[in-house]
Amino acid sequence: MKPRVLVVDNDPEMVSLLARHLEGEGRAATAVTSGAEAVAALEREEYDVVLTDLVMEGVDGWAVLREAQRRLPRARVILMTAFASLETAIEAMRHGAWDYLTKPFKLAEVSLAVDRALDDLRLREENRRLRAEVEQRFSFDRLLGRSKAMQAVFDRLRAVADSDATVLLLGESGTGKELAARAIHHGSARGAGPFVPVNCAAIPETLLESELFGHEKGAFTGADRRRRGLFAEASGGTLFLDEVGDIPPVLQAKLLRALQDKLVRPVGGSEEIRLDFRLIGATHRDLLALVGEGKFREDLYYRLAVIPVRLPSLRERPDDILLLAAHFLARAADALGKPLEGFDEDATAWLLGHRWPGNVRELENVVERAATLARGPRVTRADLGTEFVPETALGGSLRPTLAELEERYIRRVLEETGGDRVAAAKILGVSVRTLQRRSR
Ligand SMILES: Nc1ncnc2c1ncn2[C@@H]1O[C@H](COP(=O)(O)OP(=O)(O)OP(=O)(O)O)[C@@H](O)[C@H]1O
Ligand SMILES: [Mg+2]
Repeated sequence: MKPRVLVVDNDPEMVSLLARHLEGEGRAATAVTSGAEAVAALEREEYDVVLTDLVMEGVDGWAVLREAQRRLPRARVILMTAFASLETAIEAMRHGAWDYLTKPFKLAEVSLAVDRALDDLRLREENRRLRAEVEQRFSFDRLLGRSKAMQAVFDRLRAVADSDATVLLLGESGTGKELAARAIHHGSARGAGPFVPVNCAAIPETLLESELFGHEKGAFTGADRRRRGLFAEASGGTLFLDEVGDIPPVLQAKLLRALQDKLVRPVGGSEEIRLDFRLIGATHRDLLALVGEGKFREDLYYRLAVIPVRLPSLRERPDDILLLAAHFLARAADALGKPLEGFDEDATAWLLGHRWPGNVRELENVVERAATLARGPRVTRADLGTEFVPETALGGSLRPTLAELEERYIRRVLEETGGDRVAAAKILGVSVRTLQRRSR
């Protein structure tokens, strides 16, 4: 299909000249002579490029630009104006125009601007296609990962999805335990049934028992009606007990019985109810250590950990950082309707060097915030807001040497002073010459 260009100008001679020229170059051009017509055209048709005059009566070029961005976020808008100034040019770019032509211009300049816009579109679409392919190949359900470590996790998750066995997901905060639990559920024979997540750490101890196992009407003050409980709600599906290490000892025995015999007795009830659920537990704690300390029942531990699956931390799989970052950026760019292509060199280096104590969740947050702030098309290190990241989380080893710490601290102070060595030396309590020597 020919690339489609919408040409907008109050001057009928101008639009027909431009349209003929573009048609001659193998583009499909639509010519309109007002902003209102342009808006109507944008509602009806798809265009790859919009070439619009800026100063027009009624609906002007800014409005056409806004409308194009709203209706066709992938289209590239080129503004034309006789009233050129640096401010308008900057303003145009800031509002997301792709290019800017100053009248009078040569037709060759128009061709060049349109060609560049089309090349960019092609590149972007190619990238999108490649990314979709990569994500397909390197994913299990909504979990992404190309690293060997994650590929091994996917194999294991696929295998357990086929069974009805109890699974215990281990891993630091933000490593994707809940996503993994959902993936197992979706891939299992229970996939069409309910997936019921419960965060055991978030529910007050006094309520947890009745939340999980249900209660009879009048079982305790406030129990003004009967409740089925989350175990029963998960019937035919999967119950996901998040932070299962936080279950208080008094409830551990009851949980063990539910797991062993698939029977529960609601609070205040006299009869046990038979249940049909699959249990997936998760914890970021060291459950075995809790067993050792007598805080977690050993028999329950072995019931839960029939199949343990550990999700590796992000620092153990640096190969996944850029894949995930690109995925989160593309998602945010789509949501924001912003043309963001990727990360510049500095930003990439920082992403790769950071220790990611909050793992994938932290990466997701950093990238989403950056996407919001970025002026584009490439996310910079400043957009990443690395100054908000706690010092202890900065790149390097968990136990930095004194020299490393000193270097990091000097770097941070220099960043704070915007590179002003005199000010930095004052803060650091050393001479400028000492600072120069140490910060090399
Ligand atoms: N491999 C992955 N691919 C894509 N997104 C991921 C991946 N791992 C985690 N995420 C995303 O990161 C965020 C945190 O994931 P999730 O809630 O599953 O982690 P968690 O291990 O349960 O963390 P916590 O222990 O803090 O509850 C979610 O928004 C999730 O979508
Ligand atoms: Mg979680």
